[in-house]
Amino acid sequence: MKGPYLVLLSLVPRLGAHGSVLGDPTGPCPDYSSYAYEKHEPLSKGRFQLAYQRPAPRCRKFPLAEVDETIATMKRTIRDPDLFRLFENCFPNTLDTAITWKGLAAKASETDEDEELTYITTGDINAMWLRDSANQLSSYRTLLRPNASTSSLASLFRGTINLQSRYLLSAPHCNAFHPPPESSLLTPFALALSPAATDIFSPLPPPSAGVYECKFELDSLAAFLQLSHEYHSTTHDTSFFSSSRTWLRAVTTLLDTASALTGGTYLPDGRVAPPGYIFQRSTTSASETLSNSGMGAPVKGGTGMVRSAFRPSDDACVFPLFVPGNMMLARYLGACAGIVEAMAGEVRAGVERYGRVQHRGFGKVYAYEVDGFGGVNVMDDANIPSLLAAPMFRYMDRNDPIYQNTRRFILSRDNPYYMVGPVLNGTGGPHVGPGMAWPMSLIVRILTTDDDTEIVDSLRQLLSSTAGLGLMHEAVNTHRATSWTRQWFSWANGLFGQMILDLKQRKPHLLERSYQ
Ligand SMILES: *[C@@H]1O[C@H](CO)[C@@H](O)[C@H](O)[C@H]1NC(C)=O
Ligand SMILES: *[C@@H]1O[C@H](CO)[C@@H](O)[C@H](O)[C@H]1NC(C)=O
Repeated sequence: MKGPYLVLLSLVPRLGAHGSVLGDPTGPCPDYSSYAYEKHEPLSKGRFQLAYQRPAPRCRKFPLAEVDETIATMKRTIRDPDLFRLFENCFPNTLDTAITWKGLAAKASETDEDEELTYITTGDINAMWLRDSANQLSSYRTLLRPNASTSSLASLFRGTINLQSRYLLSAPHCNAFHPPPESSLLTPFALALSPAATDIFSPLPPPSAGVYECKFELDSLAAFLQLSHEYHSTTHDTSFFSSSRTWLRAVTTLLDTASALTGGTYLPDGRVAPPGYIFQRSTTSASETLSNSGMGAPVKGGTGMVRSAFRPSDDACVFPLFVPGNMMLARYLGACAGIVEAMAGEVRAGVERYGRVQHRGFGKVYAYEVDGFGGVNVMDDANIPSLLAAPMFRYMDRNDPIYQNTRRFILSRDNPYYMVGPVLNGTGGPHVGPGMAWPMSLIVRILTTDDDTEIVDSLRQLLSSTAGLGLMHEAVNTHRATSWTRQWFSWANGLFGQMILDLKQRKPHLLERSYQ
């Protein structure tokens, strides 16, 4: 419910200095918040004589042929003249009136790709609600097609997802936002009058987040996922998500935010847990603020559900575990797993296409680095992730034939960073330099083989190369055991322990024999 702020809107300028000018380039178009108050001709021919409320074509903010075609089709389909008039007025309303700005994000560096942004006002307030803007676009999803053009419906979706990602990243508990700085639509006046200027809430986002209002409404988070899913499932445009600078981070922020609000009000020992979110407003309406000093009603932890503070009406929840918001979150978290999966598929396809090379001695192997043009760096480095460790993090099975080729290459003197000598044979890397093998690489070698002889040999080398100190060093001179780096390399020590536990499971007999 956005009523109390209605008066402010007519004071806010309609269009920014940058970005595309939507609507009228030649003369003033009426402000739609006053235009919608008046009846416009021609009236419909039914008994209700409904006004024609679409703005004049030159004043429509985002003209789209598909919408006009749909209206023309429906004119032939809907018999009742009043019903058709309602459709004709309502269906295009968001595109006609609420696409208040569309443009490109300011670039952080010259190499940044263009990022589309769409700022959609809720209507009679110059602010963008996460929920409203997602639903406003969702009405057009049957018309959505893959389209790279910035004047397409697809571009509106992308721009909205991008702007929502930005909002979520900086203020994940908030529900409504000011126009982005790129639009030049934000006036100090609007900023000073926005509810966020007087509400008390925490966590407090940075001023640059452009928060209009900060009521935590679980469905706002779900709305972002919904919009992402609708765009993806309709266009199959995975590359939009995989090349986005912000989308995946926004999803991570969303997950962190939601999971931080799954706890209960009381800790096991009875003390009150930090609430995670509070909100208070000076108001005469009970549903505009939260009880219990801004925490809301007490809630039990361990239900699996996520707390909300407000409902999609922007009214306070009576009980925090708002069921429809949780239903929606469950639905769209599941749906967006598909996007992340599709992205993973793209990355894997890229690795398999560009990351493999034909090695003259070993056949098909994975390269350590490539540039996509044909440049390849055939080597391996001891640090994990390494090519040697790929089956450890389950990129592929250790019996994969290309991995096996790669492995034979890595553990041969054809690998420029394979170091040999009487002390230790293993991979190293440019970090410490030639001649220094890393014990870590032998641990990985053990973890990625089933061959008892190889395991025994590697264990023997690890045991005999600590210069008597009994810890895993970073790198050891392959010809001089007393020359090593890092006396305290916790990662490698832990990994050694992990490897021994792994052998206990896989190869217990190897722990029962002598390494003297
Ligand atoms: C993409 O969208 C633009 C703008 O709406 C339209 O002119 C063009 O025909 C669309 N292209 C395709 C392939 O649909
Ligand atoms: C390293 O490998 C060479 C054979 O390439 C072998 O002679 C040497 O003993 C190995 N070093 C260790 C420490 O096992």
